[in-house]
Amino acid sequence: MTHRSHPILRTVAPAAEPVNSLESLLSRKLIGQPAATRSIIPYVQMFQAGLAPEGRPAGVFLLLGPTGTGKTKTVEALAEVLHGSEKNVLKIDCGEFQMEHEVAKLIGAPPGYLGHRETQPMLTQQRLGSVASEHSGLSLVLFDEIEKAAPSMTRLLLGVLDKATLRLGDNSTVNFERSLIFLTSNLGAREMLKEISPDFGFRGGMKAERTDLAGKLESVALHAVKRKFSPEFVNRIDQVVTYQPLTEEALREILALQVDQLQRHVRERLGQRHFQISVEDSGRDRLLERGASAEYGARELKRTIHRMLMQPLAAMVSEERIDPGSVVRVHAGEGSAQLQFAVEARAADEDPTPPVVLIVDDRGGLQQFLDRQLRQAGFDLLAADSGGHALDLAEEAEPDAILVDYFLPGTSGIDVALALRSQSPAVPILLMTSVDLPRREQTLCAQRGFVILRKPFLAADVVREIRARVETSQVRLAS
Ligand SMILES: Nc1ncnc2c1ncn2[C@@H]1O[C@H](COP(=O)(O)OP(=O)(O)O)[C@@H](O)[C@H]1O
Ligand SMILES: [Mg+2]
Repeated sequence: MTHRSHPILRTVAPAAEPVNSLESLLSRKLIGQPAATRSIIPYVQMFQAGLAPEGRPAGVFLLLGPTGTGKTKTVEALAEVLHGSEKNVLKIDCGEFQMEHEVAKLIGAPPGYLGHRETQPMLTQQRLGSVASEHSGLSLVLFDEIEKAAPSMTRLLLGVLDKATLRLGDNSTVNFERSLIFLTSNLGAREMLKEISPDFGFRGGMKAERTDLAGKLESVALHAVKRKFSPEFVNRIDQVVTYQPLTEEALREILALQVDQLQRHVRERLGQRHFQISVEDSGRDRLLERGASAEYGARELKRTIHRMLMQPLAAMVSEERIDPGSVVRVHAGEGSAQLQFAVEARAADEDPTPPVVLIVDDRGGLQQFLDRQLRQAGFDLLAADSGGHALDLAEEAEPDAILVDYFLPGTSGIDVALALRSQSPAVPILLMTSVDLPRREQTLCAQRGFVILRKPFLAADVVREIRARVETSQVRLAS
C-alpha cells in the first residue's frame, strides 16, 4: 500500500515509550498488573481529550482477582498520578453498607424522615468535586469490595452506571459524567486461590503455566460475578479486569518501592540526622517470606516492614545508637526470625556524604523518573511537593542542587525558584518545563542563572546537567 501524505492530515506517531506518559507513571506505582493499566488509561485519555461520552460516567471498571494484588491500590495510584495524592479518591467501603438502612447514608434520608437534616449524604456533587484537582477534573470513585454491600446498593449503582446520575434523599441529583467508577470485588478469590496455590511460586514460579492460569482465573472471576450480579448490571461495566497473582519479581519490586519510601521518610523527618538504610538480599528475602503470601498477596508487606524494619530502627534512633550519616545494614539473622542491624559509621574523608538533589514537583513523577539514575550517579534525593515544603527542606537539608518543575499547583516554578535562590543563594537551580517560557521569564532565568531544561529529556541529560553544576559549585566552595 502506498502512503500519500495529505496536506492537512499529518500522522503523529506515538512515541515509543514516553517517560512521562500516564501509562508509564501508573505502571511504576502499580506493579505487575499491565492489563489493568492498559484497560484504564484509554478512558482517562478519552476524558482528557474531551471525548468521553455524555450521559454516562467516563468509565466503569470492575476489578477482580485474588486479595492483595493491587485492586484498591490501582485507584490510589491513579489518584496520585492524576491529582498528586492517593487521597483524591471518593471511596465507599461497601463493607460498611451491608444493611439496607445503611445504604441511606450514601444518599441521605428523604424529607419527612427523622434526622433528614442531620444525615450528610456521602455521595454529593460537592464531595465528588472535592476529589478532582486543578491538575485534572476527573473524579475517581471507588466502591471497594462491592460484593459485601446490601442489594439496594446495586440498585442505586445501576442508575449511576447507566445515566451517570444519582438522586439524593433531598431530591437533588449528582452527576457522575466527569468520574471514573471503580468497583472492586474479591468474588471468586477463594476458588482462585485453589488454582494459584499449587503454582504460587514465590520460590519458583512456573512461568509457562501463567498464561493458562490467567485464563482460568478470569473464568472463575466472571463466573462468580454472573452468579452474584444481574446481567443488566454486568452489561453496564466498560471493562472487567482480572488481577493476576503477583510474581516473585513483582513482589520484590513492590518491596523495593516500600523500602525506598521508608528511606525517604527517614531523610525527610530526620533532616541532617538522617542515615542510610541498606537492606541486603537476605533481609529482603526474609521480609518477603513474612510479608507476602498466596493468600494475602502483598497486603501484609507494609505492616511487616513496619514491624520488622521501622520499629527496630526507631528504637535504635531513640537510644542514639545510629550516628547521623551512618549506614545501617540489614540482613536476616541466622536462626532468629528477627532482622539483624549493623551500624557502619562513615569515615568523613574516605566516604563523604553524597551530594543531595532536591526535586520540587507536586506529582512525584519527576522524582521517580530520575531516582535510579541520580542514585547511580552518586546523588541522594529529596523531594518536595510544594514551594513551602521545598523551602523548609532546602533550609534543613542544604541540598547541593535543586530541580524545580515549572508547573506547580497554585504557583509558577519561577516564583519558587526565586524564593529558593534568596534563601540558599549558592545552590544551583534547574528549571524543568514542557512549554516555552514567556520572554520576560526567560530573561529572568538568564539573569539569575537558572538552567532551563526543556522537556522531553532523558534522565541521563538531567544527571549530566546536575553533575556539571554540582562539581563546579563544589570546586568553587573548595577554592
Ligand atoms: N500490584 C501492586 N503494586 C504495588 N503495590 C501493591 C500491589 N499489590 C498490592 N500492593 C501493596 O499491597 C497493599 C494491598 O493491596 P490492595 O490494592 O489493597 O489489594 P486488593 O487487591 O486486595 O485490593 C497496597 O496498599 C500496596 O501497598
Ligand atoms: Mg482491596
